Amino acid sequence: MPREVEHDATGPYVLTPEDIDPDHGDIAVCRCGLSPEFPFCDGSHRATRDEDPDAVYRYPDGPDGERRAVADAENQGGEVGGGVGCAEGVVAIHEARGPRIVDPEELTAAGGRLELVLADLATEVLDGSEDDQ
Ligand code: FES
Repeated sequence: MPREVEHDATGPYVLTPEDIDPDHGDIAVCRCGLSPEFPFCDGSHRATRDEDPDAVYRYPDGPDGERRAVADAENQGGEVGGGVGCAEGVVAIHEARGPRIVDPEELTAAGGRLELVLADLATEVLDGSEDDQ
């Protein structure tokens, strides 16, 4: 069920009041790692519904393309790279199959500017530190 994903993160993802979805009144932040709109959820997590819980996957062509199992869950991160995102990015393991919902009050409490780093959204960052994000 985990996914190995490459991100081109070069710093924190900064959420502001402009990111609040007017239809839902909150911000859905992607934790599955598959959204082309990362860090925002766009529903791409639906592609994970039938993942084998014992496999680690990559989605080299994005959530609408074919996925491939690259390892079993106990050996995740053995072969890194080639996932969604740029070729020279930070590699992370994502296990979540749905978004983190940020309430506007959480944003207000953070001073109207909430910073998230990849380690807040992924299960594990394999290659790259928070300084690299
Ligand atoms: S697209 Fe990743 S959690 Fe929704």
